[in-house]
Amino acid sequence: MLPEEPWLVAIRRMAMPADTNAHGTIFGGLILSLIDQAGAIAAQSKGASKVVTVAMDKIVFHEPVHVGDLITCHAAIQERGRTSMTVCVKVEAEAPSSLAKDIEPRQVTQAEVVYVQVDDHGRPLPL
Ligand SMILES: CC(C)(COP(=O)(O)OP(=O)(O)OC[C@H]1O[C@@H](n2cnc3c(N)ncnc32)[C@H](O)[C@@H]1OP(=O)(O)O)[C@@H](O)C(=O)NCCC(=O)NCCS
Repeated sequence: MLPEEPWLVAIRRMAMPADTNAHGTIFGGLILSLIDQAGAIAAQSKGASKVVTVAMDKIVFHEPVHVGDLITCHAAIQERGRTSMTVCVKVEAEAPSSLAKDIEPRQVTQAEVVYVQVDDHGRPLPL
């Protein structure tokens, strides 16, 4: 299901040598961390206060990311529940030099993440 709300550019970051796995491409755990942060930023920018991640779903890694690539996470609210928000996150990668050449970025990963708004005791709080 595609989100009806507009996409927000939540995070942009360069992939560095310290982010690599044993094969020399970017470690999937870094991308998961960026997805989690980007989704939380989107949820909080749409009115949620304190949120925790309850589920990460349908994560697909389409293409590898390389050292020096610019990683951009776009996030959009897909669904609102009573205390939860489902956020769709798509991750793009591109060489910074392709920005000047107007080359389309590669869509490397997408995911759906569910956040729950919680109170100061960590209990679900209606949105
Ligand atoms: C998130 C948390 C507070 C929810 O507590 P809970 O007792 O399951 O609460 P509820 O059953 O009332 O569910 C709250 C909401 O979460 C949703 N939810 C719960 N489990 C879910 C799951 N596996 N997938 C999707 N949504 C889920 C419910 O549908 C509900 O949404 P709604 O209010 O919009 O209808 C609790 O599970 C928790 O603290 N988890 C750890 C969160 C965390 O630390 N995350 C960081 C990663 S380590």
